Amino acid sequence: MKFTKDTVSVVIGGTSGIGKAVAGALEERPGTVHVASRSTGLDITDEASVIQYFDAIGPIDHVVMTAGSAAPGGLIADVTIDAAKEAFETKYWGSVVVAKHASSKIGPGGSITLTSGFLARRTVPGTFVKTAMNAGLEATAKLMAKEWAPIRVNVISPGLTDTEAYSGMADKARKTMLANATASLPARRVGTAGDLASGYLFVIDNPYVTGSIIDIDGGSLIN
Ligand SMILES: NC(=O)c1ccc[n+]([C@@H]2O[C@H](COP(=O)([O-])OP(=O)(O)OC[C@H]3O[C@@H](n4cnc5c(N)ncnc54)[C@H](OP(=O)(O)O)[C@@H]3O)[C@@H](O)[C@H]2O)c1
Repeated sequence: MKFTKDTVSVVIGGTSGIGKAVAGALEERPGTVHVASRSTGLDITDEASVIQYFDAIGPIDHVVMTAGSAAPGGLIADVTIDAAKEAFETKYWGSVVVAKHASSKIGPGGSITLTSGFLARRTVPGTFVKTAMNAGLEATAKLMAKEWAPIRVNVISPGLTDTEAYSGMADKARKTMLANATASLPARRVGTAGDLASGYLFVIDNPYVTGSIIDIDGGSLIN
């Protein structure tokens, strides 16, 4: 679908990191881009707010969901279940709620693009919350793509991407993490938000892509 002055896009999570880069790329095109997150007043763990948000916008062409990067690490035996549920509440259930209530507003040629993460399909002890919620999301997105056809539903699966998601880490630890990943990943780099944004544009633009998981991870899954 060609972007025109009437094209409406929504980026939930578009105030930071990958979502901000996607919103920036969409803003270069004709049309309107709505950006939302808690800092703009939308908390996706509140379903009533999400319904109200999409009702206020009206017809939509493309929805991108990148919200919710936080998840507790730790071995299954050690992770607090309440902390795990809180992460699911935002990333898994928030994605479902956003996609569900956006879908009734999306017209022919429209798309929904969700975000998982490489741990969905890589078995790394100590990461079970990310693995479980991202794997669940990828499976659910494929069902959405069938049930809601011809709306196209796809998932972008990022690898380590240098965003504000890691701003809470001590500077030295963050730099070490990024340097170690740069040295070990087949692509010999960590991702930038811009690297990821081009993947979202690809699935938005290509009318033959639906039910797909696009890995943009520097080779994490073959490492
Ligand atoms: N960065 C990586 O290395 C990496 C790797 C694999 C997967 N991913 C996935 O990629 C996606 C984007 O990651 P990122 O690095 O861009 O993260 P980020 O910079 O932390 O951005 C997350 C965004 O989500 C919003 N958000 C969080 N909770 C929300 C809520 N309850 N309701 C509405 N908005 C909420 C935040 O804004 P507010 O704080 O204003 O709400 C922010 O705009 C996430 O799904 C993450 O799991 C990232």
